[in-house]
Amino acid sequence: MKIEGIIFDLDGVIVDTAHFHYLAWKKTAATLGFELTPELNEQLKGVSRIDSLQKILDWAGIEITQERFDFLTSDKNVDYLAHVATMSADDVLPGVREFIAKLKREGYRVALGSASKNARHILERVGMIDQFDAIVDGTNVSAAKPDPEVFLQGAELLGLQPQQCVVFEDSKAGVTAANNGGMVSVGIGKQEHLSHAHHVFENFEQIPTDFINLLTSEEVK
Ligand code: BG6
Ligand code: MG
Repeated sequence: MKIEGIIFDLDGVIVDTAHFHYLAWKKTAATLGFELTPELNEQLKGVSRIDSLQKILDWAGIEITQERFDFLTSDKNVDYLAHVATMSADDVLPGVREFIAKLKREGYRVALGSASKNARHILERVGMIDQFDAIVDGTNVSAAKPDPEVFLQGAELLGLQPQQCVVFEDSKAGVTAANNGGMVSVGIGKQEHLSHAHHVFENFEQIPTDFINLLTSEEVK
């Protein structure tokens, strides 16, 4: 089936906010006496704010009250947004702006599929909000990645079948969500973390110019 829609995750794909999430969660974990390592953090990528804190608490073997849980998630977001406030148009990851502009020139439809409730704010900060034909974010979805809901909603808003869409993701959970949704998954990051993706590239500058056009004719695994 011809590929006609491209759905992008936000954090760690369009902007390097995955690192800001890591710094903020590392600080929260430290207040609980737990060290969040980069390896464990891979399991937080793509995961909602609430599920992320629950995972940290499970790893640490700690139980807290609902009140403290709510405080920690909102405190983490304040800390995260302080990092986001330093961002500008220069913080779009290398090659992404050009990649999306080319897709649009070639007639592909482009959507955002993010778990973040801060997605629109971040897209506005970096001047990318007008690049998307559809935006699905943490305020629209009820089932978190690896459930495919976020990407299925994106495809539907683009007026396309899942099989007509390619998803760009940096997280294990997000690649699984795309695969579960019947879409072509492209991992952005390290092969060792994203081996379940149909294709993996370190970053957008590594993607061959005609990659998306070639996908249409290729059989995906
Ligand atoms: C995802 C990130 O995009 O959004 C996760 O990969 C994050 O790390 C999730 O927890 C929710 O983001 P936010 O901005 O709503 O806390
Ligand atoms: Mg991500």
